[in-house]
Amino acid sequence: AAPNRVTVVFIDRDGDRIETEAKVGDTLLDVAQKHDVELEAKVTFILRDGSRQSVDAKVGDNLLDVILEHDVDIDGFGACEGTLACSTCHLIFSQEDYDKLPSKPTDEELDMLDLAFGLEDTSRLGCQVIVTKDLDGMVVTVPQGVADARSGPL
Ligand code: FES
Repeated sequence: AAPNRVTVVFIDRDGDRIETEAKVGDTLLDVAQKHDVELEAKVTFILRDGSRQSVDAKVGDNLLDVILEHDVDIDGFGACEGTLACSTCHLIFSQEDYDKLPSKPTDEELDMLDLAFGLEDTSRLGCQVIVTKDLDGMVVTVPQGVADARSGPL
């Protein structure tokens, strides 16, 4: 391989090996996407009625994308389509998963979260949380109620 290239082998869920040539400086997500390696993490949602729904979320998607793509049925979720103008995509994480999330909330997200229904220390807005491989197996709780910051509590 050229000096600025390395070989990265992905082993997927089925145990298949996918050998790729990666550019130094690329993130693993870049490499996986360039080579059509489907990286997924299992995410389980605990819905308002207490039932659970598990989906294979695409690494790199945010949790709003994941919920829409897999038709997870949460009433009123994602009203502003991820533009940080509502708090309807509020989700609650375990402390362990919360600590593993790839980004800390921005001030804008915190302001919006303040308006969310049932805020917890480990609350985030789903549209701001990017799925990483590290989060495989995470369990996310959908709060009991929804408040849309644009119209006040329902
Ligand atoms: Fe509105 Fe996330 S969908 S803030």
